[in-house]
This record gives sequence, structure tokens and C-alpha cells, in this order.
Amino acid sequence: MADYGAMIIGPGWVAGEHVKGYVQDPRTEIRAIVGFVPEDKARAEKYMQMHGFKADYYDNLDTALARDDIQLASVCTINCMHYDQTLACIQAGKNVLCEKPLCFDLDQLRALVAAEKKHGVKTQVGHVVRWYPAVVGLKNFIDSGGIGEVFYVEADYWHDIHGAWKVVKKTGGSALTMGGIHAVDLIRWMAGEDHAVVEVAAFSEKAAWRPEFEYDPTIALLCKFDNGAIGRVSTSLECNMPYVFHLQVNGSKGCIRNNGIYSTRVFPGAKGFMSIPATYPDDWNVAHHPFPEEVGYFIDCVANNTESHVSIRRASKTYELTFAAELAAAEGRVVKLPIL
Ligand SMILES: NC(=O)c1ccc[n+]([C@@H]2O[C@H](COP(=O)([O-])OP(=O)(O)OC[C@H]3O[C@@H](n4cnc5c(N)ncnc54)[C@H](O)[C@@H]3O)[C@@H](O)[C@H]2O)c1
Repeated sequence: MADYGAMIIGPGWVAGEHVKGYVQDPRTEIRAIVGFVPEDKARAEKYMQMHGFKADYYDNLDTALARDDIQLASVCTINCMHYDQTLACIQAGKNVLCEKPLCFDLDQLRALVAAEKKHGVKTQVGHVVRWYPAVVGLKNFIDSGGIGEVFYVEADYWHDIHGAWKVVKKTGGSALTMGGIHAVDLIRWMAGEDHAVVEVAAFSEKAAWRPEFEYDPTIALLCKFDNGAIGRVSTSLECNMPYVFHLQVNGSKGCIRNNGIYSTRVFPGAKGFMSIPATYPDDWNVAHHPFPEEVGYFIDCVANNTESHVSIRRASKTYELTFAAELAAAEGRVVKLPIL
């Protein structure tokens, strides 16, 4: 018998990748799957058949949360359900991995941070980009001083995104909560967690050619960190081109451009960027994303009693910046942080 029981909440598209993570790890077995739409039961059965495990199916989250043989939960439902379900998991004493976005506003964020602190469970927010092999390598290179002091960082999430619930404000949220939050999280991660963002300006624009968007599908933000470094993020969910996730980090001794490194410190005399031969986040398909690594790290945190580098407490800074940028765009002003 495995050390921990796991529960999948919302057996849709992304859940299939979380399932792989728990199934591949000998410390966990999936004991429950909770669904909310008629197709969920068949999808849950398909995952069980595909990976050779047997779990109980529930259409009620509270019933599943009452089980004391389940310690870990993955919230894989659509955006608008994450806040309530993650809070319910925490209050039931479950360690929880919540897909992005964690929540839709500052009040929800405050409640989740407080609940995590009160109940002492391990939490993680699904910023899966952090586990891409190229991103892990780049982060380690920056942290070891490979490009010197970082003074500018930018990331862009450009996607022609489709899906009924994704373009609706009530269910998808915004361009940032729907996708751009990956880029917001990455600039913070690359600038270094020690550096807080102190102000942000932003502009957003209504749909240019896909009128089904209920919210502005394009937004760009410019922010300043407490050490003077500048950050920039743009996202557009109606980009009429193949998917692009762009990254640039400028330091005093070199630069990062996507999965390329230029370093006068480590590789003096190099004529151009050297590419890391490792997977980079350049594909929108969830099968390309490193979910088993993300889930494996979450299980490590539970097993070793350590805090995830993207726990709710730590990720709250990404969400604070996101909501501050949305406020800046809506009100046409620079917003000072902290606002949490
Ligand atoms: N980390 C990433 O890179 C990444 C990639 C894809 C998706 N996601 C996130 O994962 C989550 C799930 O995305 P998905 O594409 O798997 O979603 P999906 O459309 O497959 O639905 C997931 C589940 O949500 C529930 N659901 C869906 N529509 C519903 C409705 N109308 N009413 C009630 N419940 C409903 C169902 O239980 C369903 O199984 C989203 O929050 C998305 O933002 C993250």
C-alpha cells in the first residue's frame, strides 16, 4: 500500500496529466476522483483503465473530503471553481495542489493565505512552467550568478486560446488569470523571490478580431522591483499565430533569451547565445508540460514536511501583482504595492 492517498478534483483535460504524476510515484495512489459534469464519470473511468488503477468516483466534493485515507488533492476544475474547492480542501486538512489560477481577486487571495496558515497543510499552485527542464537550468544558472545582477526581465504569453468557458469572464476570469499568469509568475521567479514588486502600470485592450471574449484578451504590464530592476509582461489570448512563450532576462554579466544563455562570466569570448538542449515551454499542449515533475515535487514537500517554492503563501506575490496590474489597467494609474 502506498504512503498517501490522492484525490483528483475535476477529471478533465489537465487532470489527465496530474493522474500520471500520482500514478508514476510509488508513494501515492489515487483513491478518489470527483466530477461535476456528466462526462466526468466516463473520463475518470478512462484514466483508471489507461493507468491500471481503481478509485472511487464521487459527484460531491464534501463526501470525498470526509475520507481520512486521502491526504493529497489536485484541484483541476475550471478557473472559477478553484477558490472554493481549494479552501474546502485546506479546511478539511488536505494537502492541496491547485491548478492556476489560484483565485480571481484579492479577497479570495487573503482568505486562502489565512487558511493555509491556520490549517498548516502543504499547498502548491500549478505554475508548471517552473518545472520545465530548460527553466530549471536557467533559474539555477541565474541563482549561481551566471548572468550577474538581474536588472531587467520580461516574459510574454501569446496564445490563440479557444474553449467556451475560457472566454467568459465569470468562468475564465481575465487574460492574466486565463494564461498570462504563467508569465507573471516567471518574471518574479527569474528576478528572485527576495525582490518584491513595488509598483505596476498596465494597459489592456478589448478583442481585436475575436468578439466572443467577454474580457480584454490583451494586456501589457510594466513593473518595478524593490532593487530597481524592471519587469515587463504581455499576454494576448487572441494572437493570430502559433503559440509563443517568450523570456528575456538581462544581467550585468550576461543575458537569457528563451532557452539561450549568453554569459561573459561563465563563457567569456562566446560569439552568441548558447541553447540549453532541454525542453522549453514552447507548446500549449498539456502533454508537453512537466506535470509529473510538478506533482512529484508536491509529494516531496508533503513527505519531507517542506514548503513548496510555489506554496499559496509564496505564489500570493504573483497573484498580488496580477490583481494590481488589472487595477492599474482598469483605473489608468500606477498602482503601488503591497496591496495584499
Ligand atoms: N498549468 C497549465 O499550464 C494548465 C494547462 C491547461 C489547463 N490549466 C488549468 O486547468 C484547469 C482545468 O482546465 P481543463 O482544460 O482541464 O478544463 P476542462 O474543460 O477539461 O474541465 C475540467 C473540469 O472542470 C469541471 N467543469 C468543466 N466545465 C464545467 C462547468 N461548466 N460546470 C461545472 N464544472 C465544470 C469538470 O469537472 C471538468 O472535468 C483550468 O483552471 C485551467 O486554467 C492549466
